[in-house]
Amino acid sequence: MTTSISGKNAVQLGGEGSILMRQRRDHAALDTMMNRWLAAETTPGERDALWQDIVQLVFSHAFAEETVLWPVLRRISSDGEDLTARVEQEHQEINELIARVEKSPGDPRRAEWVRRAFTLISRDIRDEEDELLPRLRDTFGDHRLRQIGAAWEAVRATAPTHPHPAVSRRPPGNALSGLPLSVFDRLRDLAPFASPAGRRVALAAASAAGAAGVGLLTRRALRRARRG
Ligand SMILES: [Fe+2]
Ligand SMILES: [Fe+2]
Repeated sequence: MTTSISGKNAVQLGGEGSILMRQRRDHAALDTMMNRWLAAETTPGERDALWQDIVQLVFSHAFAEETVLWPVLRRISSDGEDLTARVEQEHQEINELIARVEKSPGDPRRAEWVRRAFTLISRDIRDEEDELLPRLRDTFGDHRLRQIGAAWEAVRATAPTHPHPAVSRRPPGNALSGLPLSVFDRLRDLAPFASPAGRRVALAAASAAGAAGVGLLTRRALRRARRG
């Protein structure tokens, strides 16, 4: 029977390096940051910093799920197609909402959009911990859960860190368009571009670097996850 991973300990979930423990740590970090953002005493400056951290974690985490985890789930579970379609739809809605927030810095509806994004992120976390991730625990031993965890982490470390709603939610389309964008996003996290020309140069550099380096890393990680 499928039971939520939320109340289980590290031993039951395959050890600290397993995909289940890694997922739960990120979910807990997101939860803490969202609650902090919502707290009445949080200052506007703190909210801006928290928002940046939340956005970066949400997108790198979700991109690695779509690239590494959901294809595995579709192979092992008879209802994998329906379950992963549901979380991909949640990811798409989060993408669109956060893209709207990022494009409209002065809009008075921004706080409302942020709250809606938080509601969707919380629902996505519940669906994953209660429905999708338990199926990995039911199917795989501890060693395999740790291998999948390492593959997911490798992709997460180089994944896009900002919303890209037009990018496909499934491989290979997501990896082909998303990985060059991840280099672009990470340059943007380091230093915002001063001009449209700067953005174009960075995007061109990112496309080249992404296609060559990050793509190779992802292919290796995917091979490792498949081999088990
Ligand atoms: Fe997750
Ligand atoms: Fe997710």
